[in-house]
Amino acid sequence: MIREMMSLQGRVALITGGAGHIGRSMGVALNDLGARVILLDRDETVHRVAASLDNAVGVIADLSDELALRASVAAAIDGANGGLDILINNAAFVGTSDLSGWAEPFENQTTDTWRAALEVNLTAAFALCQQVTPALRASGHGTILNIASIYGALGPDWSFYEGTSMANPAAYAASKGGMIQMTRWLSTTLAPDIRVNAICPGGVARGQPKSFVERYEARTPLGRMANEQDIAGAAAFMVTDAARYVTGQVLMVDGGFSAW
Ligand SMILES: NC(=O)c1ccc[n+]([C@@H]2O[C@H](COP(=O)([O-])OP(=O)(O)OC[C@H]3O[C@@H](n4cnc5c(N)ncnc54)[C@H](O)[C@@H]3O)[C@@H](O)[C@H]2O)c1
Repeated sequence: MIREMMSLQGRVALITGGAGHIGRSMGVALNDLGARVILLDRDETVHRVAASLDNAVGVIADLSDELALRASVAAAIDGANGGLDILINNAAFVGTSDLSGWAEPFENQTTDTWRAALEVNLTAAFALCQQVTPALRASGHGTILNIASIYGALGPDWSFYEGTSMANPAAYAASKGGMIQMTRWLSTTLAPDIRVNAICPGGVARGQPKSFVERYEARTPLGRMANEQDIAGAAAFMVTDAARYVTGQVLMVDGGFSAW
């Protein structure tokens, strides 16, 4: 029974940011559980990532171009015979994205970059949820998973960042907070047909400065930063029928960082 609930055999999943670290890892996980995966990204390496999976296709689209995005997604769903069971909104401008007015001290963060980040991190996710709702309704198992962040729920502790050039922009936090509340709003709006949840990853180890890692790990009950599989495991649970009675929830996947 639990094997059946964890199976994604015959399901189709669309993952934005599918060429990125976490997007790719979720693609592998859903593929392993039997899903066909559509990886969408503006980065052309998405084709290489898709080719490395068993049952995946890559789609190039930029989330800041709504018309082109809608056309690419419509074509991808048509290619999957009109069916879609799972949407994972994962693409984002992240702390390391190379933008002016972004990964900078508060006084240098610009409203232009704030708007651009909200557009990709939040507005595009809203547009995609709206576009795929008919297909998810028709699925009978339709589900949306929004990838937020601990920084959509918590303020940064700047003592971790001292002596580093790492950043944590206000627009990132605001976009992720918006994602969390959009999740709750959509969950009651689309029920009972479509489940909508969010996960909030904690910081993923990716070569951050030693001083940051040490301070971060000392604050984390499980004593380490996350890796991509930690996030993919939680995502896989949320989109399978093992979570079929879970909607409107925000799961912190942070090693207990937010539990103190
Ligand atoms: N890495 C972390 O520590 C961490 C922590 C908490 C939450 N998250 C969240 O996890 C998600 C994935 O992060 P990641 O670490 O894999 O980052 P990543 O940079 O490796 O992947 C993000 C992907 O999104 C794509 N993308 C960005 N803008 C796009 C656009 N306009 N159109 C299409 N694609 C676009 C990028 O090309 C990239 O492939 C993000 O939502 C991020 O906020 C990450």
